Amino acid sequence: MADLSVTVAGVTFKNPIIPASGTFGFGREYEDLYPLSLLGGISTKGTTLDPKDGNPPPRIAETPAGMLNSVGLQNPGIDAFIRDALPYLQEQDTVIIANVAGSTVEDCVEIARRLENTKVHMLELNISCPNVKEGGVAFGTSCESAGAITAAVRKATTKPLMVKLSPNVTSITDIAKSVEAAGADAVSLINTLLGMRIDIESKRPILKNNVGGLSGPAVFPVAVRMVWQVANAVSIPVVGMGGVASGKDAIEMMMAGAQAVQVGAAIFHDPFAPVRIIREMNEWLDAHAYSSVSQIIGRVEPW
Ligand code: FUM
Repeated sequence: MADLSVTVAGVTFKNPIIPASGTFGFGREYEDLYPLSLLGGISTKGTTLDPKDGNPPPRIAETPAGMLNSVGLQNPGIDAFIRDALPYLQEQDTVIIANVAGSTVEDCVEIARRLENTKVHMLELNISCPNVKEGGVAFGTSCESAGAITAAVRKATTKPLMVKLSPNVTSITDIAKSVEAAGADAVSLINTLLGMRIDIESKRPILKNNVGGLSGPAVFPVAVRMVWQVANAVSIPVVGMGGVASGKDAIEMMMAGAQAVQVGAAIFHDPFAPVRIIREMNEWLDAHAYSSVSQIIGRVEPW
């Protein structure tokens, strides 16, 4: 068996596979299926300062090779996360990544402060949610606002700070460079691509929010391309995600330059996807005589 451990921003993960924010709740929902200690880490549902109900339904739509969501950051708020979810997560022997979302810079700073004395290992600053009117992707589409919120949260925390980037931009490498310059320790990408479906009989958009974020295998090639471009543009680690559904997908994402891989939409049709992907990665690495997963990171050989 190859050594699957990786290090991102000084945090060691026993393997590179992390359920993505918004696809795994706060972890406990999966405790009857497998020990969470099998996972490299868990990125928790985007958490805001105050509780949020999210957007009105319907807020999920199927698409060819993927899905649209417009959940709208439904979550119980940071204090409930710390009080109710974190004590359980801390006992699971896996890396805890708290996904931080907010409608203002001040909200995100306050969330980071409240997490400072907790056992969360890393923050993932969400500047890329496409489903909220304030904050979310609005922070992540200009270098200035992405840099400003990163710098503000950087000052509020001593924990490793990863910033989750949106693909809905002209140049994701420019955004990545600006958050790196503002003090990010890592970047994760890609969040969902903005999409829309219409029920042609009713002429109504399927999502009540009209538009939503596309994820699943349909976005995988876009994600690989962006991970490769960003990994070649910044010096901080890149955590890749977007349509990863198999061990070979995860290997491909790491060859593009990802130090670790988040798995999202795949979990909705196969809750065992993260552990299956870990097993499949191991099998591929053994079959190709690699002794460590680190040996494949960034090893794509472009023409
Ligand atoms: O709508 C949502 O809760 C999605 C969040 C995200 O994409 O970050």
